[in-house]
Amino acid sequence: MGYLSVAINKNWHYIGVNDRETRLFENIWPLENGVSYNSYLYTGEKTALLDTVKINKSGNFVEKLQTTLGGRPLDYIVIHHMEPDHSGSLTTVMDIYPDIKLVGNKKTREFLENYFNLEGFNGFSYEKNFIEVGDGDKLDLGDSELTFYLTPMVHWPESMVSFEESSGTLFSQDAFGSFGSLSGAIFDDEINWEFYLDDTVRYYTNIIGKFSQLVKNALAKIAPLEIKMVCPVHGPVWRTNPKRIINLYNQLANQETEEGVVIVYGSMYGNTEKMAETIARTIAERGIKNVKIYDVSKTHLSYLLADLWRYEGVILGSCTYNNALFPPMANLVTTLKNQKMKNHTLGVFGSYSWGGGALKELKAFAESSGYDVIEATAEAKGAPKEEDFVDCVKLGKEMADRIIEKRAGVLASLLNV
Ligand code: FEO
Repeated sequence: MGYLSVAINKNWHYIGVNDRETRLFENIWPLENGVSYNSYLYTGEKTALLDTVKINKSGNFVEKLQTTLGGRPLDYIVIHHMEPDHSGSLTTVMDIYPDIKLVGNKKTREFLENYFNLEGFNGFSYEKNFIEVGDGDKLDLGDSELTFYLTPMVHWPESMVSFEESSGTLFSQDAFGSFGSLSGAIFDDEINWEFYLDDTVRYYTNIIGKFSQLVKNALAKIAPLEIKMVCPVHGPVWRTNPKRIINLYNQLANQETEEGVVIVYGSMYGNTEKMAETIARTIAERGIKNVKIYDVSKTHLSYLLADLWRYEGVILGSCTYNNALFPPMANLVTTLKNQKMKNHTLGVFGSYSWGGGALKELKAFAESSGYDVIEATAEAKGAPKEEDFVDCVKLGKEMADRIIEKRAGVLASLLNV
């Protein structure tokens, strides 16, 4: 016993680590519940390590690795993904096992050359110590084998997954991952899923969501596999109900939205906030239950993205700041432009302040967004007056009506009428 590994399958061990000290993933995204960097070790006829962990946790990781190997040499490190939260301890491990062979694809090698100066490191040479694999190639582990499937942009261009057909185990790297450290429980049947659902949606929308079309391609590629267990590099290992995480990723990648409206406003002195409250009240009065209002200055982009992805209706309101969008709202709009979110209805409003500019920019974003855009807008000069509140009510009504129309359409298609 002690600080060891967890057996996950015949000859396979979980030797991941938890990081509860890093505040921001990629130095952007809050980790209020921490994160796990999962790594898997094979100890059959051959020994193989599937990915390493972020450098700040290499001490704990190497302890687990060496204890689990029990003095055996390490034959391979499979590099499914090069982002440093997984490749960060690579040279630490290579230092201990200098005869190791690295397994990756063509892009992996390119990124290894970009991130590490390996040639000559402990006698390493790409010719001798690097095995290049492509789609469908296999790695012989003696009494088992791994088959590789390239999954570009889930999450980086070199990302790939591997599959052990004999056990139906998919080593999925970032795909099917989640924020949230693993508190004793490793497997899906040991956790309370409620603890991880929001963190999984936030992980997907923050980290992978932008590449949803490529996620769909990857999901289609692995769909024919008989998957019995999913081993991602973050979050729980799915041994009992892998369909739950696969279905959730399908839903997120297909951008299936829920009925509801998220209103995000930027307001310096509360005038734009008053308009947001009026719009929200109008929508709620018309029977839409999921209405959320966020102050863009207070709520981190990470949480905004997760809810904006999730709900059908999006309303953005901004005060004017130096003849332009309020900077935190400008940041959100830039992120939304990059995010390629689909299947949303968008409304915009703003405050003119002393010179105007914010609403003009929000309208320009709306036009280029590809969303279903609400015609009604509202713009107050200084504090909103009665006529501005009337415009806010119009905007809210139009949004609610669109959502109710769509609800009716969905019901009709379900009833096939
Ligand atoms: Fe968990 Fe894209 O790294």
